[in-house]
Amino acid sequence: MNEHARGRLRLGVNIDHVATVRNARGGDTPDPLRAAKIAEEAGADGITAHLREDRRHIGDADIEALMATLSVPLNFEMAATDEMQKIALRHNPHAVCIVPEKREERTTEGGLEVAREENKLAHFIAPLREAGCRVSIFIAADARQIEAANRIGAEVIELHTGAYCDAHAEGRFAERDAECARLGEMAAYADSLGLEVHAGHGLTYETVTPIAAFPQVMELNIGHFLIGEAIFRGLGPAIHEMRRLMDAARA
Ligand code: PXP
Repeated sequence: MNEHARGRLRLGVNIDHVATVRNARGGDTPDPLRAAKIAEEAGADGITAHLREDRRHIGDADIEALMATLSVPLNFEMAATDEMQKIALRHNPHAVCIVPEKREERTTEGGLEVAREENKLAHFIAPLREAGCRVSIFIAADARQIEAANRIGAEVIELHTGAYCDAHAEGRFAERDAECARLGEMAAYADSLGLEVHAGHGLTYETVTPIAAFPQVMELNIGHFLIGEAIFRGLGPAIHEMRRLMDAARA
């Protein structure tokens, strides 16, 4: 794709963990919708929310409220289940990101095994695409998975940056740099196949710059760190700083 057609790197703010805090007490506060509105005002290009099977953070009513109120696009993250497909088709969000989901995991641990489940996933995403959703597949930076995502008709892949971020946090810098290089190569490879490339998971102020600098990456989805940082500086300022770092990386 030519550089001018790429446009500015977009920031999707994931508000799941506002709901995590709310649900810890079972009441109405803090309200994820209010967080989404603040994120919009702070320059988020989209809002991301993951409706998990166990509803541990975002709930069905949150999705309804987001769809009814947001002025930026909703990126609806979900597992490839019949229940979630029905919900997505009822709401028709701008984008659907298919993620692997295990009940016992604390967060989305790995990318989706597209290569192993190619047929099933091709059938699963077809109605979503027909309904006009942009379908994104959350995968590891692995050529096999990228090729499979392309074959099943996904328009977008989101590269899992968790291994890169974990290696940074744990001081395994050689591994971090190798992961980062792999992410860059795979972003370029996916782009060469005509896929739009997004990235996310675990990104922080310390780790965002090299990922934002990859010219093929069009969107970053960031949640946990921003919601945590909001405790100290407020959500709007936390997002502004992320935006500043992303723009600086791209300049
Ligand atoms: N992208 C995807 C596909 C995710 O599943 C998540 C976590 O829900 C994120 C991005 C955001 O990750 P984090 O909350 O660690 O920033």
